[in-house]
Amino acid sequence: MTQETALLPKSPVAGDENAPARKVFVKTYGCQMNVYDSDRMSDALTRDGYVATDVLEDADFVLLNTCHIREKAAEKVYSELGRLRELKKAKASEGREMVIGVAGCVAQAEGNEILRRSPAVDLVIGPQTYHRLPEALKRARNGERVVETDYALEDKFEHLPAPDNAKTRLRGVTAFLTVQEGCDKFCTFCVVPYTRGAEVSRPVAQILAEAERLVDGGVREITLLGQNVNAWHGTGPDGRDWGLGDLLRRLGEIDGLARLRYTTSHPRDMDESLIEAHRSMMKLMPYLHLPVQSGSDRILKAMNRRHTAAEYLALVERIRAVQPDLALSGDFIVGFPGETEEDFEDTMRLVAAVGYAQAFSFKYSSRPGTPGADLKDQVSEDVKAKRLERLQTLLVNQQRDFAAGCVGREIDLLLEKPGRMPGQLVGRSPWLQPVNVDAKRSQIGDIIKVRITKAGSNSLFAEVIE
Ligand code: SAH
Ligand code: SF4
Ligand code: F3S
Repeated sequence: MTQETALLPKSPVAGDENAPARKVFVKTYGCQMNVYDSDRMSDALTRDGYVATDVLEDADFVLLNTCHIREKAAEKVYSELGRLRELKKAKASEGREMVIGVAGCVAQAEGNEILRRSPAVDLVIGPQTYHRLPEALKRARNGERVVETDYALEDKFEHLPAPDNAKTRLRGVTAFLTVQEGCDKFCTFCVVPYTRGAEVSRPVAQILAEAERLVDGGVREITLLGQNVNAWHGTGPDGRDWGLGDLLRRLGEIDGLARLRYTTSHPRDMDESLIEAHRSMMKLMPYLHLPVQSGSDRILKAMNRRHTAAEYLALVERIRAVQPDLALSGDFIVGFPGETEEDFEDTMRLVAAVGYAQAFSFKYSSRPGTPGADLKDQVSEDVKAKRLERLQTLLVNQQRDFAAGCVGREIDLLLEKPGRMPGQLVGRSPWLQPVNVDAKRSQIGDIIKVRITKAGSNSLFAEVIE
């Protein structure tokens, strides 16, 4: 043994070289921004001597990264906390510690209320203060019940560790990169402006450095994230004001980065430069998630979406004019307060007119603190359920038609991970569909030419073109 290795601590836990590393289990609910945040928190704890585990029972620290968007999502957290309480008790009886933390949008929205409702919780931390997690965890381990939900004055991204290359390799060849957080739009149904705070864009240099690091770690495809990702803006190295189109073009210059995507976009923020990027940038995938929520102008107005159905349709036409191969995806809410049968028919008509490749649709869920919760004319659960079923039938048919339309096409496939069958890999089509193909494990990360042979219900099948 050389002197150098002899000096290395046996375990990464500072102060106690013989103790096994403490383990953290993170469970993620909600949107992709939570997925990104969970990885960053986990990286921050690794720097502090923790190792990640996916075995709940082994964890010394269990962190739930939660979502507040609909009532069901928020309630799920409390039932999970109930189960964790039992586990914590069982571990305590064996003399083992288990710290329970709640992060994410429920943490931000409910703060102290979580400690009151769930006595087993030791730590509540909001999305703007994740860089303070290691320190907050130390306090919790010292017996304090910690609530950190103030909007931090410092920039969390500057203080969170950059993605760790070794971990990036394990996480795969596609990665998320948050470029924008928060929202100033205040749609009347939505909690995000309250849970994530005001709209903030990360600076260009920070984003470029993180993207380059991801690519060094083997990432081939990056998806830029933001609650309103296309509202991202910053100052370019050229001193000009940059929008998302400029940022995408600059990221497209990174060698080794093959594909770019972005989500979620608001129709009001699709500017000319971003639309143009869909024409000129080969690396920008022909896929756009552009939620509209409703096809009724009356409801759109009540939702404070600040555009009409006709404006949305015109926008879709403009984008398809520059990129005819575009797959569109959307979000819909049925049963917003005051929604009549006629309003709902307008939504069905809009969906029929657009033709979506992919979509997410929800029953309106009244959220405390949002203007929608105070509106009269709440729609009954029964009516919401019926409308949702009709809408989903239409959307599922469109999705199936889109997939069927892919059969016979030759496409580029980014190979991501082992498939269900031995000798198979699963990749992603340009339109984000999973595609199964015969390929070797060593090909993960390659982009190959394939021909789509069959469309299944949730994925496609392809053969390699020699
Ligand atoms: N910023 C995005 C949406 C983020 S929230 C946008 O403006 O389009 C993700 C989706 O959750 C929304 O598009 C909406 O369809 C749904 N959603 C948000 N609040 C909801 C509520 N109170 N009830 C039901 N669905 C909701
Ligand atoms: Fe919520 Fe509207 Fe902001 Fe989207 S734009 S996050 S729906 S308030
Ligand atoms: Fe949910 Fe918060 Fe994302 S409410 S959808 S986790 S921004």
